[in-house]
Parts: sequence; C-alpha cells; structure tokens
Amino acid sequence: MRIVAAVTGASGALYAARFLKACLELGVDVELIVSDYGQRLLIEELDLNLKTETVESWLTKRYGESKRTGSIRRHADHDLGAPIASGSQGWTGMAVIPCSMKTLSGIARGASSNLIERAADVTLKEKRRLVLVPRETPLNLIHLENLRQVALAGASIVPAMPAFYQHPKTFEDLADFIAGRVLSLLGIEHRLFEPWEG
Ligand SMILES: Cc1cc2nc3c(=O)[nH]c(=O)nc-3n(C[C@H](O)[C@H](O)[C@H](O)COP(=O)(O)O)c2cc1C
Repeated sequence: MRIVAAVTGASGALYAARFLKACLELGVDVELIVSDYGQRLLIEELDLNLKTETVESWLTKRYGESKRTGSIRRHADHDLGAPIASGSQGWTGMAVIPCSMKTLSGIARGASSNLIERAADVTLKEKRRLVLVPRETPLNLIHLENLRQVALAGASIVPAMPAFYQHPKTFEDLADFIAGRVLSLLGIEHRLFEPWEG
C-alpha cells in the first residue's frame, strides 16, 4: 500500500505524528509532503524539527522502538516536478492531516500552486481517495463553501473532532481516533481504537 500524506500549518501536529506512526507500523509506504508552516507547527507543538531529525527518529525518541515495516519518503512542497505530481504514479489515496484553511482553499479551487495542492488535484482527477482533516474554529462561510466544494469533488472530510465515548486518557488516544478514521477511509485496516459495540 502506497499513499501520499501532507502535513500543513494548522494546529494538530499530533494527528499527523500518530497517523504516520500507524502507517509505518502497518507497512504502508508514505510519500510525505510537509508545507513550510506544517514544519513550523511540528516544531511548535511537538518539538519535531525536520531540518535536524526524521519522523522515525522522533517517534522512537517519544514512544520507543516499534516494528516498522512501512517507509517514509519526503518531498519538498515547492517541487512540482516530484514524481507524485503526476497521475502516472500509482498511489491508493492521499491524506492532508491536518489541513489548513489555506490549503483547503487551494485544493477547492484547483490551484495546484505547490506539491500538496497538485497531489490532491491529481488524487481527485484519478478518482483516488482524498481525505482532508481540516482544523479551524469557528468556520466562516468561505471555509464552509470550500469544504462543500471539495466534498462535491469527491474528497472525504474528517474534521479534527475527536470523540469522547472511547474514554480517551491521553492526547495520543484523541489523535488516534482521528488517525484511525483517516486510515479506514483510505482502506487501511487498523486497531487504533476499539469499534463501538453499543
Ligand atoms: C501557531 C500557528 C497555528 C495555526 N493554526 C492554524 C489552524 O489551526 N488552522 C488554519 O487554517 N491555519 C492555522 N494557521 C495559519 C496557517 O499556518 C497559514 O494560513 C499558512 O499560510 C498555511 O499554509 P500551508 O497550508 O501551506 O501550511 C496557524 C499558524 C500558526 C503560526
């Protein structure tokens, strides 16, 4: 299984970290794009500086060793010549986690002005699965209209709205709920949380 994952400059870097951790442990190969503000949020919220360390080394530092059969390959957001800028490259789906209102707007308008927007555009035109995890509050009409537009174009929207019926004990539990929802929509089986049995 090969997917594209994008991290943008919305609050909620932990959602991205838990999603990438799960992908690595589930044997998923990830083509990773992190916007400039995504990198800033990783530093601000997780103390993860991608200029000096990898996602994998940060995960080991924070959560210890685990069996990781997947992989992460980084791409620069300004590189519109990267392989994943083309639909001829096969990948199953793409997640933008978290997704800023700025990137949402670019995807909704088909701007393709950076690699994240372009890969999302390609994902939609190739009828692959695109999952967005928008984070902003409150939402204005422009945000709502852009969400409507991407939903009409075929994207799935998983707002960064964790549930509490699973009795989460840590921030990681909350983030895993969202990461798990995204994995499910991409067709990746996981056990990040127990299914609700009523
Ligand atoms: C600390 C911090 C937190 C931010 N949180 C959000 C947020 O939750 N949602 C959002 O849409 N933008 C947020 N922004 C603004 C975006 O980072 C900004 O619009 C940026 O241009 C997004 O670019 P990108 O989508 O290319 O990452 C935040 C910025 C900073 C510095």
